[in-house]
Amino acid sequence: MTLYHSKYPHLLKPLQLGKQGKVANRMYFSSVGFDLCDHEGRPMQEFFEVYESIMDGGCGFGFLGNASVDASSQYTDRSQKLVSQQHALDLKPIFTAAKQRNFLLSAQLQHYGSGDATSLSEAQIESYIEHFVQAATLALEIGAPALQIHAANGYLLSSFLSPKLNQRTDRWGGNAMNRARLLLEVLKRVKAVVQDEVVIFVRLQVDDGFGPEGLKVDQLDEVAVAIEHAGADAITLANGVAQTFAKFLDDANYTLASCRHAGRYLKQFTNLPIGFSANIGSLEVAEEIIASGDADFIGFGRPIIADHQFVNKALAGQVHEINHCQWDSYCLRDKKEPLADRVFCCVNPSYLRPQHIQNKYKEN
Ligand SMILES: Cc1cc2nc3c(=O)[nH]c(=O)nc-3n(C[C@H](O)[C@H](O)[C@H](O)COP(=O)(O)O)c2cc1C
Ligand code: SF4
Repeated sequence: MTLYHSKYPHLLKPLQLGKQGKVANRMYFSSVGFDLCDHEGRPMQEFFEVYESIMDGGCGFGFLGNASVDASSQYTDRSQKLVSQQHALDLKPIFTAAKQRNFLLSAQLQHYGSGDATSLSEAQIESYIEHFVQAATLALEIGAPALQIHAANGYLLSSFLSPKLNQRTDRWGGNAMNRARLLLEVLKRVKAVVQDEVVIFVRLQVDDGFGPEGLKVDQLDEVAVAIEHAGADAITLANGVAQTFAKFLDDANYTLASCRHAGRYLKQFTNLPIGFSANIGSLEVAEEIIASGDADFIGFGRPIIADHQFVNKALAGQVHEINHCQWDSYCLRDKKEPLADRVFCCVNPSYLRPQHIQNKYKEN
């Protein structure tokens, strides 16, 4: 075991995140919504089983999937919400389980918005900020050690960040800092509630895939400085929106290069720890990225959907025993597939995709 551990000195170095978040290593489970909630966005039994199993897999920290902070919106009718005392109490056992494991588990606060960035009124914007504040208050009350503000992948906060999606000419648009105003306002007001009790991550969009018209990391230098001042403790980078996801999920080299570039670039402007998950399928690659200085920590999404023990097996030198992800992204397709009522996997025996759905995907 020690022999293999010595191969990953950077990955296995503990990391301090905010005042409260000391994590044992620099590997995290990237946010994955398995769609294991009921129609009201309340977690079912399997939700707990999956995330507990993942927390036992060797990562130092990790994230639950998107929790909608707005009662009137949900990603799918099986995804999570954090909009009431009841929703918060439902989630409490997973944070208790995290605490028992000394695992820094983060709730992910998501607003899907309604209407596009350009058309929202001041009153709507204010009510959306308030939704985040209420969800953060609930997370604090149930003892969540960390939360993540989702400002990526085309949803409300990242649609404001994007010059293509945000054509406003008032204080919420027109230049990079105005476009970031909503994220920064959410961040400041969430920080005022949770103070140093809860580690705050920002999932930050660094490339929306729209090319020259869209969001690129070089628009985010002042924004990164402001994110740090507003009270964030760490940043995870993300790429793509619904229309451009395929490019990022399928082209491993492109996505990884884009994240490495973004990490390197933003580190010139902020001291916050930065990490990303980007089609990284081995600890060797993860170790090399941290050693290069492009990131402070590395995430795994699909490799861990495929095998919860991915990190532990790799650390023990049992790479041949890993159920390796096939990078087909069928799991992402499950989210919108009428025949699927949850996220499945092609290789994980705990939730193998039913054959008729698998066949359908293979056919087209
Ligand atoms: C099935 C599935 C569900 C996901 N759910 C979320 C989510 O709820 N919130 C989020 O921010 N990202 C979500 N993601 C994106 C992952 O966090 C991650 O950024 C992406 O899979 C790239 O990492 P990887 O290459 O290691 O898989 C999801 C990805 C997959 C495949
Ligand atoms: S469904 Fe496919 S892409 Fe998704 S985790 Fe499983 S093997 Fe990987």
